[in-house]
This record gives sequence, structure tokens and C-alpha cells, in this order.
Amino acid sequence: MTEGLVKSIGVSNFGGPEIDALMDTWTAPPVVNQIQVSPFEYRRALIAKSEAAGLVVQAYSPLGAGRHLRDPMVNQLAWQYQRTPAQVLIRWAIQKGLAVITKSTQQPRIEGNFDVFDFDLDETTMSALDSLDTTGHTDAAMEWKGAGSGGHDHEHRVPGTVDSHDPNRRCPMPMIDVYAPSDTFADPHGLAARLAETLMGIEQVPNIPMFRKNTAAFVHELLSQRVSNVDGDSNHVRVQVLTNAGALDRGKQLAVVEQFTNIVAEAGGDEGLKERTWVLLTEAVPGGWGLAGHANTNEELVAAARAEIERLAGT
Ligand SMILES: NC(=O)c1ccc[n+]([C@@H]2O[C@H](COP(=O)([O-])OP(=O)(O)OC[C@H]3O[C@@H](n4cnc5c(N)ncnc54)[C@H](OP(=O)(O)O)[C@@H]3O)[C@@H](O)[C@H]2O)c1
Repeated sequence: MTEGLVKSIGVSNFGGPEIDALMDTWTAPPVVNQIQVSPFEYRRALIAKSEAAGLVVQAYSPLGAGRHLRDPMVNQLAWQYQRTPAQVLIRWAIQKGLAVITKSTQQPRIEGNFDVFDFDLDETTMSALDSLDTTGHTDAAMEWKGAGSGGHDHEHRVPGTVDSHDPNRRCPMPMIDVYAPSDTFADPHGLAARLAETLMGIEQVPNIPMFRKNTAAFVHELLSQRVSNVDGDSNHVRVQVLTNAGALDRGKQLAVVEQFTNIVAEAGGDEGLKERTWVLLTEAVPGGWGLAGHANTNEELVAAARAEIERLAGT
């Protein structure tokens, strides 16, 4: 700084005592303290201490490096606000006046994580999130070191995430049909399970029985005499994915087609299958999701999923 090479400096993981020591000695006061903050690591005393010293608090790992996204309360609030769990956690930090530093390797998530400036969490919600703290509102800046070493682990609770507040994308429950000449796949059952699980992952619906039991793939093996393109070839695979209307945004469409094509080629033990696989995305009409003898609307499915999440969270 004295040489004019940097304008200002920041510190990271400085706890209360370190800030005190720094305040006694600093010639060039730092401007930022980057510390781990989320509702589960709500270091209220450290935030207050940092701010009193004139430091902006930058909250890293606001999603708990991903693990807080599975928390049932966070998921319930996401349903309530029709937002993603990540958006709820990021919004909480913003409403606390913190600078937030989150991370994702996936563009749709990065965009979604930015999309937090057009809603407010009400006071009751903020208090409910505050109550998740596991640090005793410490002024220490200890890092989360992972499950089993003091970290807060949600795995024992209800896992699951909710991806979108778009009403059309609230409740995807896909069906997948794979049509292929017989003997294309050594393990058709394994392929079906993998496709179903992959699609649930891409859609980021809550990982609850309602979705796990009702997301399925069917592998139809056909005599090759019954398959032909214009040239008479019989070695193609067709994968048809049926979701409710608007369930897949562009990022998810791209992910489904790319990942399904790779999975089909892998299951067929033939890289060349990638060039001979069609993945077709189709949508059901509103009210056209028949389950247990009833033609469900999206709203009915949302209500059923919400009830199940609440029931599971209460156990
Ligand atoms: N100063 C320090 O000591 C310190 C310590 C730790 C971290 N940091 C910094 O803080 C930043 C964030 O840290 P972090 O990675 O621990 O934080 P995080 O933002 O709490 O968690 C990132 C994880 O959440 C997932 N994720 C992000 N958005 C998501 C979404 N919308 N839906 C589902 N999953 C989502 C990411 O997976 P995908 O990539 O698959 O989306 C990634 O696994 C990093 O830049 C890191 O360098 C600083």
C-alpha cells in the first residue's frame, strides 16, 4: 500500500481476538474480513465485532459448501417463497447486510444465485433461519471442517432441493421411454434406474419418496426388423422424456440431452451410439399427470410434495 500497488487490503478468518490485536497494531486498516457465515454459522458476535472495527463482512460458504441446501427447513421456506434453497440462504445473508461470496460451476445456478433482488424474506422467516445457528453466535472464525468434526450435517434429515420459482417448473415428475433394438443394452434395468436418477438430479426436485417412486424409465426392446430410418438402418436409440409443461429450462434441456446421450452410449458399450441416439423432450398437458387414478394439476402435485416434505421434516 505504501508503494501504491494496492488500494486496500482484506483479512480472512479473523476472529474477535485477532481483530483486537490487529486494531492495536495496524498502520493500514484492512477493509474486509472474509469469514464463513450462513444461518447455520451465524457468527453474530464476530459480525458485530468486524463491523464495529469498520470491516465489511464478506460471507463465504453461504450455502455451507452445498450441504445446507438439503436442510428441511430451508427447503420448506424455498417452497413457501417459490425460490431455490440457495436463493433463500443468499437472500438471508444479503438482508443481514453482508457481502456474499458463493460459488457454482454451473451457469444456470450462477444466474439463479444472482436472482435474489426482487423478493424479501419476512421477519418470521429471518428469525426462523437465525434459529438454525450451530455456533452459539460466536466471535470465533473457525472454519467448518466437515461432518464428524463439529460441522453441521443435514444428511440425517430430509435431503432434497427445489430448483425454481416459476409456477410451471415447480413439480416435474418425468417419465422416460427408451426404444432400442433388442440386445443393445446388457443391463436394461440398470439403464432405466440411472436415467431416472439422473433426471431427478438435473431437475433438482426434493429427494423425497413421492418423486423417487414416480420418476421412472421404461426400456422397450424391439426386434430390429421393426426399426428403420430412411436408409434402412436399424441401429438407432430413441429416448423420449415426458415432463409437465415448462419443467425444463434451456440449461436443463441441454443437460438432459447431453447426459442421456452419454449414458445410453455407455450402457450400450458403444461410443458410436452417441451419433445414433435421439433424445426427444415432450410435455404433458396441464392436468395430465395421472397418479393413483387421479389426473393431477401442477398445483395438486406441489401441494402433495409440500405435505410430504413437512411430514418427513416432522419425524
Ligand atoms: N477465506 C476462506 O477461508 C474461504 C474458505 C472457503 C471458501 N472460500 C471461498 O468462498 C467461496 C464460496 O465457497 P464455497 O464453495 O464453500 O461456497 P458455497 O457457495 O456455500 O457452496 C458451493 C457449493 O454449492 C453448490 N451450489 C451453488 N449454487 C447452487 C445451487 N443454486 N443449487 C445447488 N447447488 C449449488 C456448488 O455446486 P456446483 O458447483 O455443482 O453448482 C458447490 O458445491 C469460494 O470462492 C471460496 O474460494 C473462502
